[in-house]
Amino acid sequence: MPVQLLKQSPQNECLIVFIDDTKKILSQWSDPALKDFLKLPLEKDFQGKYKESLLVYLGNHPLSKRLLLVGIGKRSDFSLHRLRSVAAVAVAECAKRKIHKHVAFLFPALGKLEVDEMAEALELGSRLYQYRPDEMKSDAEKKSPWIEPLYVVMDKKEVAAVTKGQKRGRIIADGVNFSRKLINRSPLQLTPSLLADEAKKMVAASPHKQKIKIDIWNGEKIRKHKFGGVLGVARGSVEDPRFIVLEYYGAKKSERPVVLVGKGVTFDSGGLSLKPPPSQETMKYDMAGAASVLGAFKIVTDLGLKKNLIVLVPAVENMPSGHAQRPGDIISMASGKTVEVLNTDAEGRLILADAIYWATTQYSPKACIDVATLTGACALAVGNAAAGLYTNNSKLKSALEKAASETQEGLWPLPDFEDFYADLLNSDVADLRNIGKVREAGASTASIFLKHFVQNDIPWAHLDIAGCGWYDGPRDFIGCRGASGVPIRTLAQFVENA
Ligand code: BES
Ligand code: ZN
Ligand code: ZN
Repeated sequence: MPVQLLKQSPQNECLIVFIDDTKKILSQWSDPALKDFLKLPLEKDFQGKYKESLLVYLGNHPLSKRLLLVGIGKRSDFSLHRLRSVAAVAVAECAKRKIHKHVAFLFPALGKLEVDEMAEALELGSRLYQYRPDEMKSDAEKKSPWIEPLYVVMDKKEVAAVTKGQKRGRIIADGVNFSRKLINRSPLQLTPSLLADEAKKMVAASPHKQKIKIDIWNGEKIRKHKFGGVLGVARGSVEDPRFIVLEYYGAKKSERPVVLVGKGVTFDSGGLSLKPPPSQETMKYDMAGAASVLGAFKIVTDLGLKKNLIVLVPAVENMPSGHAQRPGDIISMASGKTVEVLNTDAEGRLILADAIYWATTQYSPKACIDVATLTGACALAVGNAAAGLYTNNSKLKSALEKAASETQEGLWPLPDFEDFYADLLNSDVADLRNIGKVREAGASTASIFLKHFVQNDIPWAHLDIAGCGWYDGPRDFIGCRGASGVPIRTLAQFVENA
């Protein structure tokens, strides 16, 4: 039972106490013994600044051997994002001191935030922070044990809300970390077929698997459906492509689903338009879109939301070889449109085009959202602060912005001066070129390319996560370099609101 009443709590190894910049504890807890222990530290050593921390020993206090003071800064600046971040500071400080068990949060009281939301934030922050990409490290000693935080509440009335928030936080964090693990995995251990195996395992372990259908298409089935974009990119690789189809019916079958499409390039060498080696180094993460939609699927299904959700993942490896597609090749897409492939490194849009066509012709979705590490141009424009957003529907835009503001993940509209950009994709010899005639506005021309494959006026949005999907170092409650897990929480939130 991770949530305990203060008066029944056994002695903890470390009790985490949040304190603001006026040095007030964010709790009704008062204990004369505690006042003595805190007097000097609060006078001399601790200011309560955001992310500041200080460890204080409590002698043999029945509640805890140690107090970890964690600063939250100004109350008026405080937010759930900051609460996730200070939860991360707290577990980091405990881990540094090898305190792994009986680590408890003294549950904070902060009028403007709901109790269950705060519990969710604490659980999320501590779990997202602790994930490390260490699955291939052979030295088990170096892997630090996981801290399962406990919660100490003052009032019996809080137990239910804290328990509820903690459970939800755990499900969301586990979904995000599942996806980060796949993104960080080496491309040798995560080929298209191995990615499909991971999706299968995820479904097999789901508490709601009776409501889930999974269909994995191999190369042969992909050929049968004439997915020319997927086949064109896959040609250069010895790895057979896959098309992963996941269907979750949490609501009546007649209710229109949301379809999420994720770019699953398990490694992007650029193909014959080969990338220079430094640019190839991180291209195992070119399946972050795929992992994001799979992570969102895991969250939605683990939460058992009463929604219908379809996830489609075209999975390929983009390699140069004697079989690879050439710059100049004209390919026929699933939709029947022809594309002149002028740069084989603009591969993501080719595989997404087929999947978007499939999504918008087969499922009659209320929204189709694709997620992709699509362009360096988007990363250059927004850095890792936000996903670039392009959409054909203003209601969908608002709904996505609402979800992103709820999760506090960044989302920023890409320029959509279509009159200026659209001609850039005109080909002399085919229906479309796969790259713009100029480099400028590269994230927008890529988006417009995708838009050509949306059918039946389905509300569609494209999220370019080339920048925000990967962090070059730890940041807030993300504890390590690599997959950031953005924008998985936003996708799950969007489905929940839909
Ligand atoms: N996977 C890359 C985009 C990318 C670049 C993601 C950097 C993350 C970081 C994509 O397939 C690609 O190579 N795009 C090209 C398109 C260009 C050839 C029009 C790019 O952005 O340079
Ligand atoms: Zn590429
Ligand atoms: Zn790519």
